[in-house]
Amino acid sequence: MLKSTELSTNNLLGIKDLTPDDIHLIFYWTKQFKEIINRPIKKVPSLRDITIANLFFENSTRTRLSFELAEKRLSADVINFAASSSSLSKGESLVDTIKNILAMKVDLVVLRHPEPGSAKFLSKHIDAQIINAGDGTHEHPTQALLDAFSIQEKLNDLKNKKIVIIGDISHSRVAISNIYCLQKLGAKVAVCGPQSLMPRNIYSLNVEVFDDVIKALEWADVANILRVQHERMDRSYFPSIREYHMRYGITMEKMLSLNEIPLIMHPGPINRGVELSSEVADSKYSIILDQVQNGVAVRMSVLYLLASKSKNVQ
Ligand code: CP
Repeated sequence: MLKSTELSTNNLLGIKDLTPDDIHLIFYWTKQFKEIINRPIKKVPSLRDITIANLFFENSTRTRLSFELAEKRLSADVINFAASSSSLSKGESLVDTIKNILAMKVDLVVLRHPEPGSAKFLSKHIDAQIINAGDGTHEHPTQALLDAFSIQEKLNDLKNKKIVIIGDISHSRVAISNIYCLQKLGAKVAVCGPQSLMPRNIYSLNVEVFDDVIKALEWADVANILRVQHERMDRSYFPSIREYHMRYGITMEKMLSLNEIPLIMHPGPINRGVELSSEVADSKYSIILDQVQNGVAVRMSVLYLLASKSKNVQ
């Protein structure tokens, strides 16, 4: 039974700002939209006459395509901006770039930016609603929502389910958003990885911390595997990729040594043979492509609910 029919927030800047009721409402609409996008006619008129700008100042495959598809399935008008082909290289500031885009009468902005806090910063300078599509090491809320929805779909309920996040925790916005989201839904969360890749404040996040990957996998119902984020590192955090793979890489040999094998997730992009072997990534234990499919419906739900707060959507 849903306790609310609208979100408590006008923007989606981070999972930290959402209530458990907000997340249940997003999941309710995700289910409706998932049913619609599996029909022969996948498009609905809900966001007709709403204009959305996808502003990507950092590379993306899944998030950018998933938002664009979600917007088109909802019949929104869509414009796309990629920093690499923009006038930023001519010295234009972020706020000037975005104010120029908004002068074209944009209602909603989807922002990916390498700077933590950029979505919140922007929300103070512009009138359009904002969805954070990943801001540096801070948050990636729609990824956490699609991850939690995918787990709920497989395990029915998240309450007291055990999810371990394995890999580079300290550089990962996915880890932080997942911890907030899963805990708000009553799950137990653990992290596992080299000590050099753990945030200093990890114990304040109310998570269990494993160093031994086999013990972590043995504990978990679900393991969400993260890539080592070399692009956010200014030095080496472990001796070699080979050693990382031996200690923390998820292989079929490690999986088959367990009493019970957990579901395997990965937000992508995967570095096959580093954090995850191809054999596991493509196995029956992996729900990685379910995550990608659910990403479109989750983003449709978030877009619909946010737009509903400011306009009469159809
Ligand atoms: N999971 C994720 O954010 O992937 P992209 O960087 O390809 O968008």
